[in-house]
Amino acid sequence: MDRMTRRTFLGAAATTAAGAAAGPWVLRAQAQGGPVKVGILLPYSGVYAVLGESITQAMELVFARESWTVAGRKIELIKEDTEAKPPVGIRKADKLIDSDKVDILTGPVHSGVLMGMRDKVHNSKTILIVSNAGADVISRERCSKWIFRTSFSNWQPNWPMGGWVAKNVSKEVFLVAPNYQAGKDMMTAFKETYLPAGGKVVAEDYPKLSETDYAPYLTKIKQSGAKAVYAFFSGSDAVNFVKQFDQFGLKQSIKLTGAGFLTEPDVLPAQGRSALGVITGHFYTPLLDNPVNKKFVADFKAKFGGKTPDGFAVQGYDTAEVIVRALKAVNGNTQDKDKLVAAIARTEFDSPRGRFRFDQKSHNVIQPFIYIREVKEVAGGLDNVPIDKVADVTDPGTGCTLPA
Ligand code: BEZ
Repeated sequence: MDRMTRRTFLGAAATTAAGAAAGPWVLRAQAQGGPVKVGILLPYSGVYAVLGESITQAMELVFARESWTVAGRKIELIKEDTEAKPPVGIRKADKLIDSDKVDILTGPVHSGVLMGMRDKVHNSKTILIVSNAGADVISRERCSKWIFRTSFSNWQPNWPMGGWVAKNVSKEVFLVAPNYQAGKDMMTAFKETYLPAGGKVVAEDYPKLSETDYAPYLTKIKQSGAKAVYAFFSGSDAVNFVKQFDQFGLKQSIKLTGAGFLTEPDVLPAQGRSALGVITGHFYTPLLDNPVNKKFVADFKAKFGGKTPDGFAVQGYDTAEVIVRALKAVNGNTQDKDKLVAAIARTEFDSPRGRFRFDQKSHNVIQPFIYIREVKEVAGGLDNVPIDKVADVTDPGTGCTLPA
């Protein structure tokens, strides 16, 4: 008998026999007694590191509120750094699914990581709650029974902005975004409403993700004669672009507008007064006047050294809230995946952004509002102040109504 003593062999045999005699429900209960493993696949380094940090912090806030135990089971987080690089993210997703055998997976931030891991998640029937990456196809042609999104589709914050910018800012715009799926999705969504409203795209340009020197692009913007820029950048790209746009002297003559990520509270302190006057569209601002948001902002600031929560933190909060509520609904049973998926789909609650619910046709969150916000001085600091809003912004995707 190799590596197993007679005593341990007899003990193991007795346990197995007792389990078999008692019936499969005893074995299931034993398995269910362990922790619920939640795999967290986020960038903790690279261009989107600040996004990963905010999402994780808010998730931990919610799980701490539950004393890290839901329906009698401990919550165990297994974190992996994607570095916001598709090959790294895809490899880490494989590890969380195959080796760690997580019960639920969340993340990623980068649309390319999400698209690269989609088939593995779908084929292995792993439940994935996307807590940032907005790739539109995940709500459409590549929707999966096993994938939900608590954050946004790339279409959602940008589609309302096209018509708004054409009407209120300028009918001549220069588009600029990083050269990958999220940048392309966001500019396409903007054009869907900008062009029919009489807007003209003077030019568009796509620097690489993680560019640090925007001078060549800012020169082209200056020479284009455009009256406005519509941009998507996030993380350290947003800091560099907004600061260099100002340093280049463009702020005085060209209005800077874009997707909300451009001036979120994760980057505003580093951008400083360069961000003043920038107009963006997003599902959240920490100034929202509802009781859940007021408590969230206060609790988040208290736990994380006065840090103001951003939209990414709300995505983390809502992801953890969905996990907690769905686990309670199924009494902690993560083995019946069909029941757990049905419980996730039904989850509805008051979130800091308003009423949270999934669109059953796409498994994507319905945004209660997209706020058009302008960076202004508020109480001695800078904030995204809502100046207009569009209600019930639902991705047009219907991918999840097709057979699984
Ligand atoms: C994305 O890759 O989908 C993404 C990254 C950062 C902010 C928003 C979207």
